[in-house]
Amino acid sequence: MHILLLGKNGQVGWELQRALAPLGTVTALSRESQSQCGDLSCPEALAGTIRALKPDVIVNAAAYTAVDKAETEREQAQLVNTTSVEVLAKEAAAIGAWLVHYSTDYVFNGADGPPWSEQDATSPLNHYGATKLAGEQAVLAHCPQHLIFRTSWVYAARGNNFAKTMLHLAREHSELNVISDQVGAPTGAELIADVTAHALRMALQQPSLAGIYHLAASGETSWHGYAGFVFEQARSRGIELALQTCSAISSAQWPVPAKRPLNSRLDCSKLEESFGLTLPHWQQGVARMLTEILEQTH
Ligand SMILES: NC(=O)c1ccc[n+]([C@@H]2O[C@H](COP(=O)([O-])OP(=O)(O)OC[C@H]3O[C@@H](n4cnc5c(N)ncnc54)[C@H](OP(=O)(O)O)[C@@H]3O)[C@@H](O)[C@H]2O)c1
Repeated sequence: MHILLLGKNGQVGWELQRALAPLGTVTALSRESQSQCGDLSCPEALAGTIRALKPDVIVNAAAYTAVDKAETEREQAQLVNTTSVEVLAKEAAAIGAWLVHYSTDYVFNGADGPPWSEQDATSPLNHYGATKLAGEQAVLAHCPQHLIFRTSWVYAARGNNFAKTMLHLAREHSELNVISDQVGAPTGAELIADVTAHALRMALQQPSLAGIYHLAASGETSWHGYAGFVFEQARSRGIELALQTCSAISSAQWPVPAKRPLNSRLDCSKLEESFGLTLPHWQQGVARMLTEILEQTH
């Protein structure tokens, strides 16, 4: 089997290089790739890549993910998250390939209530969310063999992440303010990649599994709760922090260009039941990631 992976250097893309490897031959591209075009700002060249490689599966981990910048770079976000995704969907369908794509809880408006299920009405609050929703719709419209995973609050040990930022700030400052009215589940890129490989293997055998799935770690917390867990874990490993007070603030007290949903909780029961999986608690993955990064820096 030949898999084309796009966005190989992103948080999820990096882990997919590892997780997809046992499934077959993986051609992994980034926007800088010279051998073939992997740039989602160039839909025509991207179509050429797919026609040349004729993969059995396309896994699209590339996306315009700068949520605040998307409010001003509207056309670029649209091009990468919608126009090129439509091209991927049409090209995949033309060669009978599967398309695996990622989306976000930002397709919902974050209204208070139970965790979002796949059937709930979408209503994005910001331009990034709108472009991701339109991308999903393009996949649904044009490529019947698809897996779309909506995830949330993604982190990875590699690169920057919220936990690293919090640790850095807590070493330097005695007081911090962290938002407490947005609730979700921090979800590791490793988990997303491993679940993708498992689900893809099953879907190839059982095509009726095609569909949209919510994929996040279990449990829930706020950014404030997430930060508190990071500090507790760091201290338990002997890391000295200058931090004395971490205050809970509301989203309104931390203005940013793009409005964020307050309720980012995803109901992942469809994924667990369809693929026979049990999603681990978010603290498990975050503790593991902290062990990795603290071992490197301590
Ligand atoms: N991060 C989150 O919290 C989160 C939450 C919910 C859903 N998601 C979704 O999960 C998926 C994976 O996200 P992630 O966290 O892995 O994001 P990420 O770390 O920001 O990775 C995105 C990748 O896409 C690449 N990219 C951007 N523009 C491109 C272009 N024009 N052509 C080719 N590649 C391009 C980026 O390359 P550069 O590094 O060169 O920019 C980066 O490698 C995305 O679909 C995202 O929307 C993410």
